[in-house]
Amino acid sequence: MSKKPKITLIILESLCGKIAKDHKDKIAWGSREDKLHYNQFTKQIGTVIMGSTTFKITPTSVFDGRKNIIMTSKPEEYEKYANENYIFMKATPQEVLEYLETQGIEEAALVGGGKVNNSFLEANCVDEIYITIGSKIFGQGIPSFGDSPIDVDLELLDYKPLGPNELLLHYKVVK
Ligand SMILES: NC(=O)c1ccc[n+]([C@@H]2O[C@H](COP(=O)([O-])OP(=O)(O)OC[C@H]3O[C@@H](n4cnc5c(N)ncnc54)[C@H](OP(=O)(O)O)[C@@H]3O)[C@@H](O)[C@H]2O)c1
Repeated sequence: MSKKPKITLIILESLCGKIAKDHKDKIAWGSREDKLHYNQFTKQIGTVIMGSTTFKITPTSVFDGRKNIIMTSKPEEYEKYANENYIFMKATPQEVLEYLETQGIEEAALVGGGKVNNSFLEANCVDEIYITIGSKIFGQGIPSFGDSPIDVDLELLDYKPLGPNELLLHYKVVK
């Protein structure tokens, strides 16, 4: 029997727990070091999972070179973007994991946004989390973990500075 794929959530957030100032935010406030961390990590894993809002807002150059799974209730709206590296799925987090398993994919990075992060955590489908705490405070904005209540226990595995102003935290999700 094959092993359940490992899912690692990777986030850049402000000190106030927001992943974006608003839906127009191009997320240019992360450091060069964080971009390097994101690129190296997601390219090494090779497969990323995201919500449709994140896909619509982000330039595809951020996702090229990886297999992208985009979660949406309306996959038919994205037909023109679909190919073997851009897969649009109407699915629950568990169904995404089952799909990865059928493809022989052992690991994927969950790259946001907040709503999809929330639904994967709610479904107990996240194994580890890397959070970069950026040097920004927005007050309001897009919450890192959506706005539905969840209750997740974490174990801190590691932490290190990322450039002069950021901190990278690495957690295991306690299941
Ligand atoms: N700083 C960071 O690390 C980072 C990373 C990623 C994104 N972002 C920012 O986050 C913002 C987007 O986040 P968001 O929370 O608004 O949206 P999101 O999580 O990117 O996408 C949510 C949408 O995905 C679709 N969806 C399909 N299945 C789903 C499921 N099981 N659970 C949840 N959603 C599902 C739904 O749209 P339909 O069904 O209608 O298609 C839903 O409205 C953007 O501003 C982006 O720039 C920041």
